[in-house]
Amino acid sequence: MSRPKFPVAIALLVTAYILPAVFAQTTTLAATPPMGWNSWNHFAGKVSDADVRAAADALVSTGMRDAGYIYVNIDDTWQGERDAQGVIHANNKFPDMKALADYVHSKGLKIGIYSSPGPLTCAHYAGSYLHEEQDAKTYAEWGFDFLKYDLCGFREIMRKEAPNDPQKAFAMQKDAYEKMHKALIATGRPILYSLCQYGLNDVWKWGTDVGGNSWRTTGDISDRYSRMAEIGFSQAGLAKYAGPGHWNDPDMLEIGNGGMTEDQYRQHMTLWVILAAPLLAGNDLSKMTPSTLALLINREVIAVDQDPLGKQGDRVSAVGPTEIWSKPLSNGALVVGLFNRADAPSPITLKLQDVGFDNNAKLRDLWKGSEVTPKNGAYTVTVPAYGAVLLKVSR
Ligand code: GLA
Repeated sequence: MSRPKFPVAIALLVTAYILPAVFAQTTTLAATPPMGWNSWNHFAGKVSDADVRAAADALVSTGMRDAGYIYVNIDDTWQGERDAQGVIHANNKFPDMKALADYVHSKGLKIGIYSSPGPLTCAHYAGSYLHEEQDAKTYAEWGFDFLKYDLCGFREIMRKEAPNDPQKAFAMQKDAYEKMHKALIATGRPILYSLCQYGLNDVWKWGTDVGGNSWRTTGDISDRYSRMAEIGFSQAGLAKYAGPGHWNDPDMLEIGNGGMTEDQYRQHMTLWVILAAPLLAGNDLSKMTPSTLALLINREVIAVDQDPLGKQGDRVSAVGPTEIWSKPLSNGALVVGLFNRADAPSPITLKLQDVGFDNNAKLRDLWKGSEVTPKNGAYTVTVPAYGAVLLKVSR
């Protein structure tokens, strides 16, 4: 009679304390898609302590922090050697990680770091393989709030231990991501967990199970229109996998890096907010043109991404090189993106009944910040080459 008592007590403990704690941590983190900056797209392997401090300063001075860009994320190439106890240290580009984290926090911002479940990262720096708990503890002690965990070198382990066995390799991959999630939870510090494995094995179907607050859905973006559009428009059909606490991540922003025109960058931002994507600026924030800042900081546009309903948008229609996408917003409103993927301007018509509204609907052009008027239940606008128009539709 007395034997079951112990397991029952444990079960009660788990239900009453441990599960709610784990749940609270995954849902309060990333209630809306994470916003901030990441070093990779502009600084890549050159990023240093000074660049990260400059990014933090710029987030404050430009008003981006107050518009929601909170995370300052160091990507690959910060890692130095492990000491005799196996504790990871930063390399000489980052003389004092704790001091850097304190500095970023003192600006009212949060700070992110990067590692890999493999022995090596993509840039061949030390990963967390066989040091997961130790590394999570180090990140927490330094004061980090965000971890991007990039598969890279772990693929080598999968190839070695599961040659020609994709099922086993997949199970290994999931275990590796779950292991780091448990290590992060064990630190007691809320650390947003950003999976990066390029969308392999339909990660959107299991990213939440391994604790992910976001997961990359594709290979790397680059600062070219064709690549940005290829990634962005390939996201159709993934909406149902995203929601508060767990987001599809089509990769970081390239806005302001110089490889696209202003209209192309506007299309990039418009598509990313409709996708409820993480908005991680990837440019040098300390040297931004006014037009770059205007694209990044438009409050009405950001509000689409950050809408509390937390629904990702999807494609409504595609006719030749023009596409219409929509995203449901709270309070029954809807946002509609009109996209022109061609190299010449093109008129695009939104028929209100095609998106579930009648002729009395109100329309607002969010980039322009002004109301526009539909005629007979339709609104036609000329969208620039490679451009986008973002309309809010409400009753
Ligand atoms: C991979 C990731 C990129 C970046 C680099 C760093 O390619 O997908 O986002 O983190 O590694 O080496």
